[in-house]
Amino acid sequence: MPKMTVVNRSGEESTIEVEDGLTVMEAIRDNGFDELLALCGGCCSCATCHVYVDPAFAEKLPAISEDEDDLLESSDHRTGQSRLSCQLPLTADLDGLKITISPED
Ligand code: FES
Repeated sequence: MPKMTVVNRSGEESTIEVEDGLTVMEAIRDNGFDELLALCGGCCSCATCHVYVDPAFAEKLPAISEDEDDLLESSDHRTGQSRLSCQLPLTADLDGLKITISPED
């Protein structure tokens, strides 16, 4: 099972093990982080699953879609590391991924 490190809004780091096939959003939600609202349940229509991905993993991530890009554009906290976590399947390739939950919009 891939491991992932999550940094919450207080800056606390936790490492979790993630079942293959889950998205980063599902892994965060299922592990009890209540800061990530993920209101639309992963349909790429709410942007409340916004995270920052460690740049070391940038090249391993799937390309950003137009819808994801538009939604991220609506956030005041978008950076070059921003992604919607529901659009990121956690594959073995991403073992050790580190993400930070973005501030709330
Ligand atoms: S959960 Fe709504 S866009 Fe990701």
